[in-house]
Amino acid sequence: MAVGIFDSGLGGLTVLEAAARALPEVPFVYFGDNAHTPYGVRDPDDVYALTTAGASRLFEAGCDLVILACNTASAVALRRMQENWVPRDKRVLGVFVPMIEALTERQWGDNSPPREVAVKHVALFATPATVRSRAFQRELAFRAIGVDVEAQACGGVVDAIEDGDMILAEALVRSHVDALKRKMPEPQAAVLGCTHYPIVEDTFQDALGAGVEVYSQPRLVAASLSDYLQRHPSMYGTGDTAMFLTTGDARRVSDQATRFLRRKIEFVAA
Ligand code: DGL
Repeated sequence: MAVGIFDSGLGGLTVLEAAARALPEVPFVYFGDNAHTPYGVRDPDDVYALTTAGASRLFEAGCDLVILACNTASAVALRRMQENWVPRDKRVLGVFVPMIEALTERQWGDNSPPREVAVKHVALFATPATVRSRAFQRELAFRAIGVDVEAQACGGVVDAIEDGDMILAEALVRSHVDALKRKMPEPQAAVLGCTHYPIVEDTFQDALGAGVEVYSQPRLVAASLSDYLQRHPSMYGTGDTAMFLTTGDARRVSDQATRFLRRKIEFVAA
């Protein structure tokens, strides 16, 4: 009954951790494409090729359902994968929609027409590729009207986190928040549209100020996944072993992951 979680690197571990807490009986297979991170500066064809390769490996590991715990892949590659590539008996889902459903106060899977919502000024923090894709604004427009979104491409943050340089990561977060505030001085809500960012969520909240509600994906995606599996129990795959797979240096990635999750994590070569 395994479920796959994919990311370009370590960021998806924030989603994995919340999903494992919500669904303790499910063996999760994690795939980190650490050899090719960051995706945020790659072109769409490249992200598509890497993401389909990772998802194939997760199908092979006995997962019928793969969560792209990577906003960049969700924004740039997911629709193309769903339209042309995902086999009929498999599913690949992204991490954007659950967050937008929360922001627009919708139930999971509510497809009613767009309507006015309480938040009017939203700051989006994401990778350059996600910002460029405008996928967040497109998905939001299906559900809400009258919401002003100001996007800030947070160059360098993923690289710093992958390198374990948290001082640099936090300094970059503060400078990206300053840049955003110059464009939108008083956001009501901030969306962390990259799964690496929850690792520095406290810095985002501190720099934004206590009055700004920060929407972070791990808990929202985990809740949406539980709901999805309840509605689609056939999407539990045949795999029965939890695993951490990486295309990078397994020892180094294990050390980093252990530091982030504060428990022993052992990656093996994908
Ligand atoms: N965690 C990925 C995301 O959510 C990071 C992408 C990257 O590798 O730049 O966008």
